[in-house]
Amino acid sequence: MINAYPYSLFPPEPEARQRNIIAPLKKINPAACFFRNDAAFDWLYPEHFQLMSLRQWTPLAVAKKAAEYLNVKGARILDIGSGIGKFCMVGAHHYPDSEYFGVEQRHELVHYARIAKKYLGLDNASFIHANITQVNFHEFDHFYFYNSFYENIDRENAIDDTIETSYSLYDYYTRYLQSVLKDKPPGTRVVTYQSLGEILPNDFKQADQSFGTLLRLWIRE
Ligand SMILES: C[S@@+](CC[C@H](N)C(=O)[O-])C[C@H]1O[C@@H](n2cnc3c(N)ncnc32)[C@H](O)[C@@H]1O
Repeated sequence: MINAYPYSLFPPEPEARQRNIIAPLKKINPAACFFRNDAAFDWLYPEHFQLMSLRQWTPLAVAKKAAEYLNVKGARILDIGSGIGKFCMVGAHHYPDSEYFGVEQRHELVHYARIAKKYLGLDNASFIHANITQVNFHEFDHFYFYNSFYENIDRENAIDDTIETSYSLYDYYTRYLQSVLKDKPPGTRVVTYQSLGEILPNDFKQADQSFGTLLRLWIRE
């Protein structure tokens, strides 16, 4: 036998209705869906760039790990050879306290990076169309490098044929980076991906590594 009238609490008081019954509205960032997996992100670009993603652009998980290390509050981070801008966009999305810059020699890639950045609504990423020898390294605090000069050695997997490549350019750019990084103060961080750190002067020490040994996290002592 039921002692209490089963519907005595019905309808609930307005206050009770709100407590725990209606899920609070979450602020959803509509761009977040593009950072769920690499295919979703690459979809922002024309098909021929999607097809070279595995070889040429940093995977999302790797970019996130690299940005986590470089994200020292308020830092200005430069991607040396930024391609379609994937590293910068991942950093800007996950670690908005830093500013991300990409320097890229191919105008078409800079063009698509800028379109994607606008589409994703990221205010803290910018792309410079220039050769790395034309940027002022004093303007940046920390650096990301995905073996950008390798195209001078491995001509079979070139992004396109608009850029002159040669073994001597590989040496030249590598030595150039060593010389500008020599001027950076202690505490400067560099992340290299698929590179042994040949661009780094001797006083950069490896602090950690990830994804096997593919991603190396360095700091100047
Ligand atoms: C392997 S892709 C990496 C792209 C991007 N950093 C990423 O992680 O997705 C290397 C990029 O470096 C660019 N690059 C190579 N040498 C360069 C130079 N001397 N100055 C500017 N960009 C360069 C290439 O055009 C290419 O887009």
